[in-house]
Amino acid sequence: MTLQLLRTVTTDVLDPLVSGLTRAGGGIHSGYARYGGRMRQLVDSVGDADARRFDTFPGEWSIGQFSPSYLVPRTADAPYRLVANGNDRARIADLLTYERARIEDVPSIVRCHVLATDEGYRGLPGATGPHLPPDRGLANFVLRSLGPRKLPYWKELVADESKTLFVARTPDGGVVGFVHPEFNDDGSGYLNAWYVLPEWHDLKVGSRLMRSALDYLGPVDIQLHVAVSTKAENIYRGYGFEEIDGLIPTPPPLAEYGLTVLLQGYIRPAAAYEP
Ligand SMILES: CC(C)(COP(=O)(O)OP(=O)(O)OC[C@H]1O[C@@H](n2cnc3c(N)ncnc32)[C@H](O)[C@@H]1OP(=O)(O)O)[C@@H](O)C(=O)NCCC(=O)NCCS
Repeated sequence: MTLQLLRTVTTDVLDPLVSGLTRAGGGIHSGYARYGGRMRQLVDSVGDADARRFDTFPGEWSIGQFSPSYLVPRTADAPYRLVANGNDRARIADLLTYERARIEDVPSIVRCHVLATDEGYRGLPGATGPHLPPDRGLANFVLRSLGPRKLPYWKELVADESKTLFVARTPDGGVVGFVHPEFNDDGSGYLNAWYVLPEWHDLKVGSRLMRSALDYLGPVDIQLHVAVSTKAENIYRGYGFEEIDGLIPTPPPLAEYGLTVLLQGYIRPAAAYEP
């Protein structure tokens, strides 16, 4: 079993990686370019006053600071090293591990959060379009508000041993998705966040993270809030979450950027739990 896994890792993952690395400007770099493209576009569209200070990715950028440029994958950036092309991503998905987050994962957690939100909210009112004033819209919201606001939050949460945030980890240590289940004071559960990097969608990464969260919470009622009319809303229904009465109006941080994002509450009854 172990030998088989080793062989799979060697032939399926490391070989393409090595051959990619030895081809000057080859697959590895186009992998970065494809993925980094959307992040780069976002950063370019909102600008980044600090960009020049962070021209070279430090590898261990300070998790106490936020700059949109931090979030553009660089060649020193682990999650992308193994992804020479789209086909490899599907194969690597089988090799991901699902485990508790470490403090050094925080930059990748922020990146997953920002990019998955960008993708999930793109069709919502006021989100994108050439008509937007330069300081409004989705790109500005995710990079100017969501990312910087949540960075200290994720950092504190991951550092707190009494809390649990699960990540999906590539064999070389990168993070491509995360989920944050937590317990309310009354012992019921709450699903606070569930995000997968867009390029890793539809490969069952989200499904495995959800399994980790449901197992962690066990047989309790689980609540969540999700933006109405997003793909995630449908997916939650598939996991047995049922609508709770009443919509929550657009939260102020989103409204400030011109977005209309109504939130719907859901509950998954304890009886739906299957070990
Ligand atoms: C929601 C999200 C985490 C799912 O991640 P993913 O890796 O693409 O999901 P998977 O491929 O594992 O699919 C998850 C499940 O949804 C099902 N599914 C996929 N697309 C679906 C769709 N359009 N409608 C309904 N169900 C769907 C899959 O069959 C799978 O079910 P299973 O566990 O029974 O097999 C991801 O799409 C995401 O990051 N979205 C944006 C962020 C977001 O809105 N998060 C929730 C806010 S709290």
